[in-house]
Amino acid sequence: MPKINSINHVAIVVDDLQKSLTFWRDALGITLHEMRDVPAEKSQVAFLPLAGAEIELVQPTSDDSGLAKYLAKRGPGMHHVCLEVDDIDGMLAQLKQKGVRLINEEPRTAADGKRYAFIHPESSNGVLVELYQL
Ligand code: CO
Repeated sequence: MPKINSINHVAIVVDDLQKSLTFWRDALGITLHEMRDVPAEKSQVAFLPLAGAEIELVQPTSDDSGLAKYLAKRGPGMHHVCLEVDDIDGMLAQLKQKGVRLINEEPRTAADGKRYAFIHPESSNGVLVELYQL
């Protein structure tokens, strides 16, 4: 049976990365590891690792992405939580079998080779959930 092993990251959508860092980095004191452009997702991301997991601050870089629309509609805030799973294909099959609504029926592959899929918030108490298999 597929198994969830850990929380990989929590993603927060922001309208101004530099401004958001004055809270997460400067006020809370979490170390900024890296900032990166993610053209495939039309966003810029700040990675702040924390005890084996990560806070990710995500700022849309164009107006036409799903993320930009989310930000325009709801304002900055919690965007998704990402859970690490040992068998993403098995987990998606299990979720489908249990009637869970998925955004990605099949895993997608990121630039770094990670496989991921999103679960629809309608099935997860209003929280967008991402699954990762490293
Ligand atoms: Co994510």
